[in-house]
Amino acid sequence: MKAIGQGSSHSKIILMGEHSVVYGGPAIAVPYSGVGVKVTVRPSALGQSTVHCAFYDGLVEEMPDVVASLYHTIHQTAAALQLSMPLEYTIESTIPAERGMGSSAAVACAVIRSLYDFSGQPLTQQQLLSLISESETIAHGAPSGLDGLLMTQETPVVFQRPAHLTPITFTKPLHLIVGDSGQIGRTKEAVLAVKSQIDAGETRAIKAVHAIDQLVQEAIAAIAKCQWEQLGHLLTKDHHFLQVLGVSSPDLDRLVASALTSGALGAKLTGGGRGGCMIAITDDAQQVPHIQERLLAAGAKKTYCHSLEALS
Ligand code: PMV
Repeated sequence: MKAIGQGSSHSKIILMGEHSVVYGGPAIAVPYSGVGVKVTVRPSALGQSTVHCAFYDGLVEEMPDVVASLYHTIHQTAAALQLSMPLEYTIESTIPAERGMGSSAAVACAVIRSLYDFSGQPLTQQQLLSLISESETIAHGAPSGLDGLLMTQETPVVFQRPAHLTPITFTKPLHLIVGDSGQIGRTKEAVLAVKSQIDAGETRAIKAVHAIDQLVQEAIAAIAKCQWEQLGHLLTKDHHFLQVLGVSSPDLDRLVASALTSGALGAKLTGGGRGGCMIAITDDAQQVPHIQERLLAAGAKKTYCHSLEALS
């Protein structure tokens, strides 16, 4: 046992394929280390386990429902490690919570890593993924597994259920600009809303999911050829089908429109939707500050930029 255990994780950005990925289609996603989570765990001086994070500061046993997945992760991981002593968890995160950037999976990943580090026991990839998956099921209902797997990746991938990952390479610079609408994303609600349309056999929704699958396949081909203009068109079309599925919001639509009129090659919501973030792409680094400025003027609360050139 160590005096202190530490764990960290980055966030993720879904380029294309959210929602359709739940039904077996491919999704393109990118790990993003511009924001992340750091967890420190040490023996508690209070005789009871405590948590300090932006959402809650108090006893583990009194954690409210909004942090139910965190409560579960702490318990499951401590049980797997047979740790029964009271511990103090300090969670520091720069990932905006519930915005489609993988905050819940990142927190789970960092907590699990910190507890394994504290115990001195080795953590296998399989153990990590299985613990994150349990946590994500509480946070999101029936997750595709994309968020959890992305926490263990360092470079862009194409993901397909159940756990198929193919690396994808960006050999010419591409800049992803993320605009945070400031509204809480509602992934669980959005995933359930899509599911109820699919279960009811609604043709429009079924066609939209198939159309997104097709767009993602075309996007994979466009990325291989560095056809950024084509990729931009595909992103914007994807947004249209996400609107058809009912997972966008007026704020996201406004930010997408603003990015497009500011010269972005394409734009769409990212993550579960119904709030949260959108992304825009450009191949021109000089345009990035302009697009960010226009997004802020259109109501974005914050913007981030991730340049994929370094990952090629
Ligand atoms: O909102 P996020 O970052 O958890 O992304 C959800 C992505 C979905 O495809 C909508 C759901 C999933 O489990 O893949």
